[in-house]
Amino acid sequence: MKQVIISLSFVALTISNSIFAQQEKSLTLKSAYKDDFFIGAALGLSEIYEADQKSNDVVKNQFNSIVAENCMKSMHIQPREGEFFFDDADRFVALGEKYKMFTIGHTLIWHSQLSSWFFTDKNGKDVSAEVLKQRMKNHIHTIVTRYKGKVKGWDVVNEAIMEDGSYRKSKFYEILGEEFIPLAFKYTQEADPDAELYYNDYNEWYPKKIETIIKMVKNLKSRGIRIDGVGMQAHVAMEGPTMAEYENAIEKYASAGVKINITELDISALPVPKGQSGANVADTYAYNKEFNPYVNGLPKDVEEKWEDRYADFFRLFLKHKDKIRRVTLWGVTDSQSWKNDYPVKGRTDYALFFDRKCNAKPVVEKIIKLAETK
Ligand code: XIL
Repeated sequence: MKQVIISLSFVALTISNSIFAQQEKSLTLKSAYKDDFFIGAALGLSEIYEADQKSNDVVKNQFNSIVAENCMKSMHIQPREGEFFFDDADRFVALGEKYKMFTIGHTLIWHSQLSSWFFTDKNGKDVSAEVLKQRMKNHIHTIVTRYKGKVKGWDVVNEAIMEDGSYRKSKFYEILGEEFIPLAFKYTQEADPDAELYYNDYNEWYPKKIETIIKMVKNLKSRGIRIDGVGMQAHVAMEGPTMAEYENAIEKYASAGVKINITELDISALPVPKGQSGANVADTYAYNKEFNPYVNGLPKDVEEKWEDRYADFFRLFLKHKDKIRRVTLWGVTDSQSWKNDYPVKGRTDYALFFDRKCNAKPVVEKIIKLAETK
């Protein structure tokens, strides 16, 4: 009898262990982090048009938020004045509804990937402040109204402030001064009062940059113009920034009364050209074999360091989960990551969580475990 009880309990234990192991295996990023923050991914045209089922399965199973990588940028969505091209963005938003995602629009006002008509009159001269305001308003109202209630948050303004705390000398700034930012937020709020509104930038852990962004946030708030979050792009390298620099930024933005979104996270495993930092898309470097050392795969020791760097960031995000609304990776798989072409074109990078065959890398399990053991 004793023997039977012992073997029965052994069987029960084995079954419950294997159920547990299965449960653990079936945990996904979005389920592991469901009580902490949204986990998102940027989608390119391939996912938007569901061209690769494996990649779309990763999106569906692992993430609960999506953002448009390119199709909502002004040069794509309004290539000529008054001529809107909505096909790709419509598909993107429809996919968000189908997958029940927290869908993010990126981006309304940005100096880059912008058609030159925005600032020029028919003689090629700069337009007046009044005309530029009208164009911004029409651009924002048309897009935001179309996706009202479906796009839950907008990167209203992207990359307007430099690392030294000065304003970027973009045409928006040249023609309208600092005021172009409050105007963009006001127009977006008018078009969809329920959408969350964000200011998004890279290298936003530089102390002077933090100061100016906070001043801008406070200015908006004091004038009754809503801003809900600061987006920290987080295209980060292995070497920097430090966790202390990042933590300082998160704490400072939060104390200005906004949520933090980690909006474009990717960690390049490749060497950084001297002097390069951040993600200004115009700053590119000539190809050189030394910059592309791992064409046949990441060596184990490099991959482990890279995993540790991701783990450090997620530990920090978990520590500050009360301040963080969303952590979004800039892409789904390594094969379509922009890091293969930025800042040096034609490299083989390994910046994301899913490999070139859409398989989860070991880092995924580690990141899931962090949420489980917090
Ligand atoms: C990048 C896209 O990933 C690329 O496909 C495109 O060629 C250039 O732009 N900061 C941003 C993003 O806010 O929109 C940029 O996306 C990366 C840097």
